[in-house]
Amino acid sequence: MSRIVYVNGEYLPEEDAKISIFDRGFLMADGVYEVTSILDGKLIDFPGHAKRLERSLGELDMANPVTMDELLAIHRALVAKNDIVEGLVYLQITRGAPGDRDFAFPDPAETPSTIVLFTQNKPGLADSPAAKKGTKVISIEDIRWGRRDIKTVQLLYPSMGKMMAKKAGCDDAWMVEDGFVTEGTSNNAYIVKGGKIITRELSTDILHGITRAAVLRLAAEAQMEVEERNFTIDEAKQADEAFTTSASAFVMPVVEIDGVALGDGTPGAIAKRLREIYLEESRKTAI
Ligand code: PDD
Repeated sequence: MSRIVYVNGEYLPEEDAKISIFDRGFLMADGVYEVTSILDGKLIDFPGHAKRLERSLGELDMANPVTMDELLAIHRALVAKNDIVEGLVYLQITRGAPGDRDFAFPDPAETPSTIVLFTQNKPGLADSPAAKKGTKVISIEDIRWGRRDIKTVQLLYPSMGKMMAKKAGCDDAWMVEDGFVTEGTSNNAYIVKGGKIITRELSTDILHGITRAAVLRLAAEAQMEVEERNFTIDEAKQADEAFTTSASAFVMPVVEIDGVALGDGTPGAIAKRLREIYLEESRKTAI
């Protein structure tokens, strides 16, 4: 069934939505995005995603074509128009279509930003079979650019990482730089040792996950010990358990790293508990 999508002020059937071939998102990957999950027809962590979007735009000197109130209204309208109970809203803003290809940024007064939003219907998102089984990851070198804190649409290397994982019979890849794990291809990475949750500290090396912020807050509230520091793949392989967080998969247990099973090879108690707490709290605060 055709979706209703949003493009530059209009709600349209997806087959009628058009973007210029000169759009800088298409030619230069000159764009930023956000993914917000929907549970019970409501948006999860919307204020966090909206705030990070503003930051990404600011870091790239890109104009925001909508106010945050408008953005919330568009998200809600798309959820309603597409009858989404569980799923995602994808949002992308690019530096627009200047009418030709040029490395220099166009004047924002002459070239408005492009804004696109669409929904992805995912019934059963919260009750995921993958979360019950746990996921398997491989490690790969992190060769992305140096501003991973900006949520840009430059996703070729993460896509390649995902393909490398698939080829190895696994689900995802954890990226490693200077010997330390940065993050997963589309999620933040954690290990658990002796009851302590360990995850890399925030910097320009990783995306400041909205789910990460919520999960670390909830972990602290549940009296779990959290340490924000670098860890290696070798340390991860010796961990009791591991997991990832993202808006699209919440808290996802990891049960194998580079062929080494963690613990008894099933989702760990802390990962399972954090998933439960996160889902419960998210449903309560959803808007
Ligand atoms: N990915 N790190 C990377 C590289 C990511 O792409 C993402 C999100 C995260 C987790 O951030 P958050 O908790 O705010 O979703 C970490 C989204 C879901 C995606 O690309 O589909």
